[in-house]
Amino acid sequence: MKRTRIVDILRAAAPGTEVLVKGWVRTRRDAKGFSFLEINDGSSITNLQVIAAEAMPGYDIVQRITTGCSVAVAGALTESPGTRQALELHAAEITVYGWADPESYPLQKKRHSFEFLREIAHLRPRTNTFGAVLRVRNALARAIHEFFQDRGFVYVHTPIITASDCEGAGEMFAVTTLKLEDIPRTKDCVDYAGDFFGRKTGLTVSGQLEGELLATALGDIYTFGPTFRAENSNTSRHLAEFWMVEPEMAFADITDDMDLAEDFLRHIFAACLERCADDMAFFDERVQRGAIETLRGIADSRFERITYTDAIDMLEKSGESFEYPVKWGLDLQSEHERYITEKKIKKPVIVIDYPREIKAFYMKLNDDGRTVRAMDVLVPRIGEIIGGSEREDRYDVLLDRMRAAGLSAEDYWWYLDTRRFGSVPHAGFGLGFERTVQFVTGMQNIRDVIPFPRTPGSAAF
Ligand code: 4AD
Ligand code: MG
Repeated sequence: MKRTRIVDILRAAAPGTEVLVKGWVRTRRDAKGFSFLEINDGSSITNLQVIAAEAMPGYDIVQRITTGCSVAVAGALTESPGTRQALELHAAEITVYGWADPESYPLQKKRHSFEFLREIAHLRPRTNTFGAVLRVRNALARAIHEFFQDRGFVYVHTPIITASDCEGAGEMFAVTTLKLEDIPRTKDCVDYAGDFFGRKTGLTVSGQLEGELLATALGDIYTFGPTFRAENSNTSRHLAEFWMVEPEMAFADITDDMDLAEDFLRHIFAACLERCADDMAFFDERVQRGAIETLRGIADSRFERITYTDAIDMLEKSGESFEYPVKWGLDLQSEHERYITEKKIKKPVIVIDYPREIKAFYMKLNDDGRTVRAMDVLVPRIGEIIGGSEREDRYDVLLDRMRAAGLSAEDYWWYLDTRRFGSVPHAGFGLGFERTVQFVTGMQNIRDVIPFPRTPGSAAF
């Protein structure tokens, strides 16, 4: 017999059906003449209750089953007298695949702290919370592809090893085959002649620059891949390795970019509510009260759009005492972003027209000469979830901006070529995938929405 997933039983099975279920035992409880097993197979947050009667063959083995054992159970589904589930499985046969010594298996019945679970990242996917996080993560990934595919965007793959620092923040992890114990040097620099690539390379911080090359050929593209930043921010919203979704549109301006970002977020939130109803109910009850209502509200409403200058004004008039200073020309910190979206506007906000000095070289300079056509999407609890812009499509202006940023035109000749040959207005953005999973689930710490987080001082598992 083929195995049936528990999610399919819960959704559609009828009483009387014979099934084979395979999964991990969450609990065993004994009553007079029976044992009750709660089985979870990862397909749903809901366990299937199995009833093993004393009279069944191998009942002595059933009585040795403990939390964490992997089992196969064959039997018939019956209507459950309990109110918690509609169906339960009356076991005819139970096979144990693997035992889990209760003395040493760390995931026992009680609830564990997220800090403790991070130390057992290899086992935490077996808990309710992490199972739910990973299913929501999957649903979001699917909705992301769906959204762009339905609109004719071409999914492109940009390199992970690269020689360009897109954000210019100097946060790249180096990639080299040079022997670290004995780095060859010319006078005051590393000599890369003997390196695999023969030059300085690193892990990409963003696929945008290559994305722009592809958008100026294919029209609308998107990337969805891992990005790396060696920024030493030990916060609940930063990872050293995170996933980013980066659409790029030719023949598009900042307004098109904002419209896309808004439609995109609304689509993926709605898809998640629809497809992960049980997991979302869990988050709503256990992790973040009101999570469902918040998402539904966002899926149905327009985002507020303000300028950076408006934002500074709002912050200055707020009467709040912030840790970081508020002044035109300084970057918005997460506390500022959260004040604006959480307390002041109480829904997602798109902030545009940031001072040129605090944004990357590739953003289009506004006519005022002081601000650029940047847009950040801010959401409650997280702050910045999307960063994007209209791109500087004028060769001369771009060249000036690159020089001002200390980038060498020789290194980026290929990027500049897009502005020399058939340059077009274009725009795009980057969505932080983990921050999105955090926002949807209400999980406090970004380390708990990716299976194996990489953060300063931590790359175990
Ligand atoms: O704002 P960022 O740095 O924008 C870019 O990289 C652009 N090149 C994107 C583009 O226009 N194609 O990063 C984009 C988003 C942020 O808004 C944030 O959500 C997320 O990526 N992000 C991080 N997420 C987790 N850990 C980090 N260290 C992150 N840094 C940025
Ligand atoms: Mg940003």
